Amino acid sequence: MKQFIQLIAFFLAFECIAQKQEPTFKVNVSQVESEVSPTMWGIFFEDINMGADGGIYAELVKNRSFEFFKPLMGWKITSPNTLQGFYLGSEITIVNQPEKASTNPRYLHVNLKNPNPQSLGISNEGFRGMGIKKGLRYDFSVFYRQKTAHTVLVIELVSSSGQIIGQTKILPNDTSNEWRKLETSFTANETDAKAKLNIWFEGNGEIDLDMISLFPSDTWKGRKEGLRADMVQMLADMKPGFIRFPGGCIVEGHDLSVRYQWKKTLGPIENRKLIVNRWNYEMAHRLAPDYFQTFGLGFMEYFQLAEDIGAEPLPILNCGMACQFNSGELAPLNQLEPYIQDALDLIEFANGDSTTFWGKVRINLGHSKPFNLKMLGVGNENWGTQYIERLEIFKEKLQAIYPNIKLVCSTGPLPNGPLFDYLNPTLRKMEVGFVDEHFYSRPEWFFANAKRYDSYDKKTKTKVFAGEYASQSVGMVSPENKNNWLTALSEAAFMTGMERNAGVVQMASYAPLFAHIDGWQWTPNLIWVDNLKSMATPNYHVQKIYSNYKGTHTVSMLYKDKQVSAGQDSLFASAVIDKNSQELILKIVNQSKEKRQISIQIEGLSKLPKAANLIKLENENLEALNTLERPNEIQAIENTITLSGKNVDLAIGGYSFTTIRLKTNAK
Ligand code: AHR
Repeated sequence: MKQFIQLIAFFLAFECIAQKQEPTFKVNVSQVESEVSPTMWGIFFEDINMGADGGIYAELVKNRSFEFFKPLMGWKITSPNTLQGFYLGSEITIVNQPEKASTNPRYLHVNLKNPNPQSLGISNEGFRGMGIKKGLRYDFSVFYRQKTAHTVLVIELVSSSGQIIGQTKILPNDTSNEWRKLETSFTANETDAKAKLNIWFEGNGEIDLDMISLFPSDTWKGRKEGLRADMVQMLADMKPGFIRFPGGCIVEGHDLSVRYQWKKTLGPIENRKLIVNRWNYEMAHRLAPDYFQTFGLGFMEYFQLAEDIGAEPLPILNCGMACQFNSGELAPLNQLEPYIQDALDLIEFANGDSTTFWGKVRINLGHSKPFNLKMLGVGNENWGTQYIERLEIFKEKLQAIYPNIKLVCSTGPLPNGPLFDYLNPTLRKMEVGFVDEHFYSRPEWFFANAKRYDSYDKKTKTKVFAGEYASQSVGMVSPENKNNWLTALSEAAFMTGMERNAGVVQMASYAPLFAHIDGWQWTPNLIWVDNLKSMATPNYHVQKIYSNYKGTHTVSMLYKDKQVSAGQDSLFASAVIDKNSQELILKIVNQSKEKRQISIQIEGLSKLPKAANLIKLENENLEALNTLERPNEIQAIENTITLSGKNVDLAIGGYSFTTIRLKTNAK
């Protein structure tokens, strides 16, 4: 019996020791390691997956200017006649007059011979339908030209079930035969995600029409013909440190003729020349023949967006190289001048005053205050000696005039291998501001590489911009990739590594940002939308937590008395303090499915506060995901725990990401 009791006592003692041996972190809030850059976590914006046209740019009419390759794409001529466009002597035709209007040469010509009501018209399908909301005002506009005022336009919104859910009638009455803009508004009486727009023509006479447009009135900040408020709000909620725009591969273009040229995206919308979007034909398995760039979201709007959401603008410009996955077309070295001039002019546009040409352009566009541009990307995912040769010329010319603008430079499409191994040291030798690293890999890679930056030299002038990353549940460019919990968890783990090494990594952004559920080419993406709603992925929640609680300085953290790294007993962690909010912020990822009892010893505080705030993201199912129908399967849950004793003791769930915030100024 005595022996039995001794045995029990031994097991109990062992259990106790085992519990005491559970992982323990030690954090010292007064041992500051490095500053966390205010730009640490940001946004990558590209018009991919109908992110801009058909997405955040709130225009509902597709191919409003008849400039798509097929001029009537998105439109139907609605007439009972089998010969489209002809009805009892009336006709509707497309006219092309490039010599008169080089940026927008096509328009619709309507010649009416008193057709019956609702018997001749046009109908626009929108971007995979039009999202219409009950009770909301819609603003219709059209450019027209006529000699007589005899044509009535009957405008209707029609639901997917064929009901008229909004209607108005207008008589264009200017007969100067000059192009005029006509605007009218009406209110929708039903909600439908897949409505369409009909315009019926009534009367007798001829009229030309162009730029047929419909916007909801509930745009971001109520700006006329502006951006979708729900989508911008998602960005604002992230409190991003920067916004990189306009991409991505669309900066480079399939060939140089369709590269992104910022100057062509300014000014009156009817003069912004539309070009094809390279994502139109890039993905053979997800072709999007109706994907074009109208530049309604142009550079002025990008800068304005950056300002609105409190993010530093980070424009990326073409460096004289088309996408090397496509044509790889090069501007010869002695013909780089227009590319470099574009970059110089952009800086002047953003920062110049009224004495400068481009500063004046910005002021005339309504923004007298400079945008305070501090960084500029030269090239996206370009590689090889051809890139370096071009970059050297750019760098010399840009830095001669703007030595304080930090240049963001490409390390190619992959974070290792020969392209990277050539570019990374070369760029560092050139002392560029940032090297832009891209990661599209499986979750295992993200967990395994959370220590990537532990071995980077913290003292070098050149800092890292992790410009594009996303964990791929299947593999890069697989259409089967899902934004599941495993991918988000692996990114959260990887981000502890970036945060711990905030002296090395000063900017990071998930990519791509937006995807339309019916119009995507690439997956996974941070935010999915349909025509009415936007949905946060688990990955979005992770990004938002990091960005909202980025802190100002990293502080020392030990795991079992050794420098914290990554994946120690399946845990990943980082610690920052925020000198403004006077908080210690700890982030802990548990990669294993087992719950863990964690004890965190905090040094450098006169007193532990009575409570700490917890934000938890967890799910026992790594495949779990949010959908537009069930957007809250994975969401951040916030609560408060009471603290007693010397340490912060808490249980963290299996497959979890926990953020712990506690006040450092408790008295
Ligand atoms: O994010 C999607 C694409 O991935 C970007 O356009 C490009 O830079 C990268 O290859």
